[in-house]
Amino acid sequence: MSTRTVEELSVDVSLVHHTGNCPVNFPVSPTLSLNRRPVQTIAVAGGKGGVGKSNVAVNLAAALGASEHEVLLVDGDFELGNIDRLLNLRPAYTLSDVFAGSCRLDDIVLQGPRGVSVIPSASGAMEMAHLTHVEHAGLIGLFSELPTSADTLIIDIATGLSESVMSFCRAVREVIVVVVDEPTALQDAFSTVRVLNECCHVRRFRVVANKTESSQHGLDLYAALSDMTDRCLDVLLDYCGSIPLDAQLKQAVSQQSAVVDVFPRSASALAFRKLATRVARWPQPQTPCGHIEFFVERLIEVADSTR
Ligand SMILES: Nc1ncnc2c1ncn2[C@@H]1O[C@H](COP(=O)(O)OP(=O)(O)O)[C@@H](O)[C@H]1O
Ligand SMILES: [Mg+2]
Repeated sequence: MSTRTVEELSVDVSLVHHTGNCPVNFPVSPTLSLNRRPVQTIAVAGGKGGVGKSNVAVNLAAALGASEHEVLLVDGDFELGNIDRLLNLRPAYTLSDVFAGSCRLDDIVLQGPRGVSVIPSASGAMEMAHLTHVEHAGLIGLFSELPTSADTLIIDIATGLSESVMSFCRAVREVIVVVVDEPTALQDAFSTVRVLNECCHVRRFRVVANKTESSQHGLDLYAALSDMTDRCLDVLLDYCGSIPLDAQLKQAVSQQSAVVDVFPRSASALAFRKLATRVARWPQPQTPCGHIEFFVERLIEVADSTR
């Protein structure tokens, strides 16, 4: 697989937009304003719905935002996105409108808590349900145009193992797997790790135990997942701590707010701040592989390889 220059990449991005593979041409600005700052890219995965992926993504973003990071939070669930509702944002347009060609990506960026920039997805947009690799890469290719100075890109990915989940996980540097104490959730977390390892060559997974009753409970969950992966996979699981089951988090959800924002002293907010401190210590990407355009390039490579 060849590595291409940014210029070649930008040509490719517009080619992807203008091939017959896409139902419409995405509006592409003639000059790309590429972000040349190293960017940490993180996908929040978990397999099963309801384990807390979106809440982890939102609160990690807000906790990093509160500690001087510039965060871009992307709702990567193209079919049933809900970040806008979790944060009481009212998007006039979503990624679905960008896909339809009615607006540009920078038109849909919203301000979330703690200075976090949010890219909302549509909920129930059927045309977004079965994007091909090329269409997906074309849409995400627009990210390289965003005039953003973000140092961290967090993607809340969809439940399951759809095309978009795989594409995002191939393109990011870090994958967080959220696990809760339910046999089906543990099995789904294991299956997610296995498929992302086998199909996307992800080797390192950061594990967050959610809805825990104690810190030991979180460690036990991590040990259970490790036992499963140790038996048959060559992967590295890094335990990043636990988020307690917290009534105040539920309350924050019903207030459509991040718990770190509205209940900063709650047990879950404290745990999210700890998680953010830990995430901020992860090795920062170095030139050139940490730039937004590298993230895009990896998505484009995926598209190329499946044409
Ligand atoms: N730590 C927690 N404590 C209490 N409730 C939680 C916690 N994490 C998630 N929840 C509950 O689980 C629900 C589903 O969480 P969500 O983040 O939407 O899951 P997912 O994105 O994985 O489908 C939330 O609406 C919230 O009520
Ligand atoms: Mg979700």
